[in-house]
Amino acid sequence: MSHLIAPQPQPQTPDATLHVAIIMDGNGRWARAKGLPRTAGHKKGAEAVRATVKASVRLGVTHLTLFGFSSENWRRPADEVNALMGLLRVYLRGEVDELEREGVRLRVIGDRDRFSDDIRDLIAAAERRTQDNTRLALTVALNYGGRAEITAAARRVAEAVADGRLAPEQVTEATFAGHLFAPDVPDPDVLIRTSGEQRISNFLLWQIAYAELVFTDVAWPDFGEQDLADALRDFRGRERRFGAVSG
Ligand code: IPE
Ligand code: IPE
Ligand code: MG
Repeated sequence: MSHLIAPQPQPQTPDATLHVAIIMDGNGRWARAKGLPRTAGHKKGAEAVRATVKASVRLGVTHLTLFGFSSENWRRPADEVNALMGLLRVYLRGEVDELEREGVRLRVIGDRDRFSDDIRDLIAAAERRTQDNTRLALTVALNYGGRAEITAAARRVAEAVADGRLAPEQVTEATFAGHLFAPDVPDPDVLIRTSGEQRISNFLLWQIAYAELVFTDVAWPDFGEQDLADALRDFRGRERRFGAVSG
């Protein structure tokens, strides 16, 4: 009967790459616990981004994807959204030199149309300036939603089929994935969420099919190199089976 079993797609088991994705959560609670406004937590959170990028380079991470702002985060009070946009400007203006020095390529995934012109320009400039760097591929998800990404890919695939550029039977997992926002980035090996919540909140829904999930109680503003190293040790201790049996 085994001949009736369709060949399974081979999951990526890259050993030359190590992709860490992080849902950076807990800025607001961190601040509130200290009697500070939530925005103080976001400011400290931006420092944790800086530290995590450096730590990733040191620890041999090749791809780092950070959830910076979800498509649902617009629901927050205008003051908080404005403060987050301000921090994004500060980061994009102030951090590109350092990214260059560290050999980091920055890319943004998500729908940029809702950002102001100056932020869109800063993103484009940072992407352009760092595009040849190869030490760490940093992807920041901004105004990002996993379902929106999958829907956009489905629309592009449908257009290609309607135009006759693609036959329906050519719509495979691989061709579909090729229409996602960052098709050249391998799937995350490990997904970390800080600050105790154990949910995905619409992040990288397609890409995390076989990611190892690591949840930590550490709030994002307190997250540092040791926490990243701990998460990687936890990840390395696990057996990834990709649906097969133990070797
Ligand atoms: C993560 O921290 C930052 C963003 C979502 C922009 P939060 O702001 O979600 O902090 P908590 O979860 O309310 O503590
Ligand atoms: C997810 O965190 C988005 C980011 C980290 C940018 P949220 O704090 O928005 O998620 P929920 O609302 O707790 O699910
Ligand atoms: Mg949160």
